[in-house]
Amino acid sequence: MPLRYQNKVVIVTGGSKGIGRGIVKAFVENGAKVVFCARGAAAGEALETEFNTLGPGACKFVECDVTKEDQIQRLIAVTVELHGHVDCLVNNAGWHPPHKPTDETTVEEFRNLLNLNLVSYFLASKFALPYLRQRHGNIINISSLVGTIGQKDAAPYVATKGAIISMTKAMAVDESKHKVRVNCISPGNVMTPLWEELAAQTADAAATVHAGEKAQALHARLVQTLPFSFGALRFASSFKAADLTIERNPECKPKPDPSALMFGKQFSDHMLTISWSEKDGWDAPQIKPFQNLSLHPASSALHYSIELFEGMKAFRGVDNHIRLFRPMLNMERMHRSTERSCLPLFDKIELLQCIKKLVEVDQDWVPFSQDASLYIRPTFIGTEPSLGVSRAGKALIFVIIGPVGPYFATGSFNPVSLLADPAFVRAWKGGVGEYKMGGNYGPTIAVQMEAQKQGCQQVLWLYGPDEEITEVGTMNLFIYWTNTKGERELVTPPLDGIILPGVTRQSLLDLGRTWGDFKVTERKMGMKELLEALDAGRVLEVFGAGTACVVCPVGSLRYRGKTYQIPTMQNGPDLAKRFYKELTDIQYGRKPSEWAPVVV
Ligand SMILES: Cc1ncc(COP(=O)(O)O)c(C=O)c1O
Repeated sequence: MPLRYQNKVVIVTGGSKGIGRGIVKAFVENGAKVVFCARGAAAGEALETEFNTLGPGACKFVECDVTKEDQIQRLIAVTVELHGHVDCLVNNAGWHPPHKPTDETTVEEFRNLLNLNLVSYFLASKFALPYLRQRHGNIINISSLVGTIGQKDAAPYVATKGAIISMTKAMAVDESKHKVRVNCISPGNVMTPLWEELAAQTADAAATVHAGEKAQALHARLVQTLPFSFGALRFASSFKAADLTIERNPECKPKPDPSALMFGKQFSDHMLTISWSEKDGWDAPQIKPFQNLSLHPASSALHYSIELFEGMKAFRGVDNHIRLFRPMLNMERMHRSTERSCLPLFDKIELLQCIKKLVEVDQDWVPFSQDASLYIRPTFIGTEPSLGVSRAGKALIFVIIGPVGPYFATGSFNPVSLLADPAFVRAWKGGVGEYKMGGNYGPTIAVQMEAQKQGCQQVLWLYGPDEEITEVGTMNLFIYWTNTKGERELVTPPLDGIILPGVTRQSLLDLGRTWGDFKVTERKMGMKELLEALDAGRVLEVFGAGTACVVCPVGSLRYRGKTYQIPTMQNGPDLAKRFYKELTDIQYGRKPSEWAPVVV
């Protein structure tokens, strides 16, 4: 089972005591590489040794006074120097001064606390954000319950904690476009050394602790209605799986022979549809007999490609249970495509529930074979019956499913040949290549035909003046090689807007990082660099990765009129096979994993 934060690089401020210490420990236990800071060196260094002994992740203590801008800057720089990137910043350093009424609090005390508890969060975020944006990482700000409910004789502390919540909201708004999540945690009374110390300074420490606990309970009552009312507001704009209606098909078709399946040609007996209109919102989801759609000829999907889709699979396991594979990643990608297409948002979990129900209804269509599976095609189209180029006021989600065998006619582990022609571009910066929109696919067919004309099976998509290698056909691309430093390394292009964030891609990266047997790098690589490595005999394996094929070895590459052989098959392909086995073991239930939830 991959560790939750395997190889994630995390910075924790104020990490040697209390909540911060717990955070560092949790990340190290889950495989992360943590850099934490605190003011005193002794406690930090002792903790570094303690946690590094426990593993399996690792941590590094860096001395840093977070009231000093240059020291915060250094903390981030040291982290990047050590690990090359940052995935997560946890702002936690802060202090709760002894309680004092406002009349006795000096302005200087207030300003100093503001600097320590609030400005430090801002500075660490500011300096970490350029790196977090590269990784679509996140910031977690530790606030406090009292920032919401107040506290007696603690105006400066409460002010800083309340401001952290507000700053979090503001940064979350700003950073969403960079896909950096900014969240805030407001813990109630956690028994930390600081809280113990504070309570001990009062006349009756036990009574103080008890009063704190009561305040927390009061807060629970105060906010109880909030999550539900927020929820109602948000979810009112989504359909619900609980409202699903099912109309069974009275004429179920015979199921095809799993050994003779063609990709995307056979469909099951039922489909899921969910319609939406600006005026009436979402209709109840329906499972009904598989049938043609009836669309107004001016529907915006037909004219302006207001269309997006997903591709996922259900597998019949060795235990006869049916499993999906990391389906929430598909739901999240679909949600992002929806947002980019100006189609109405929905609740991802509710859609997944509906899809699971459809698979359950058509469960006999999931092939009784470990070479085949049930392909699931969630689709979302604009059905606005108008030729104006504008946001669709009507839309339809539909999901169709059908059994599929191996994707490539040549069989799943035969190497493919590629055409790399810089004259053709699949996606571009500022475009929509990172979304799964139909408009990205239609125009590639002519290029695919050109590849076939030149005796190649697939297209290797290049981009920009450096002829960056981006994707292969409709798969993400992986190169396993010995890099110039003599290290074994798996390289795939980074998610910089022109790459589709594949579920398989993510899974290979996660597995590679968990195994730790070779370096795993997301970085750009140009044709020149690839050809030099090929020439030097450093390329071991090149393969595509996607739901349809899992992994697909590449055997040759045609570029500027010359064909280059790639020794993928001569090298096993050991790594491609290892990935294929690991993923199919999970998918077919041969290996238990939380990546493959059971549906039936
Ligand atoms: C352009 C492109 N790249 C990569 C992929 C692989 O993504 P996934 O692993 O989610 O199937 C797809 C899949 O459909 C794709 O269309």
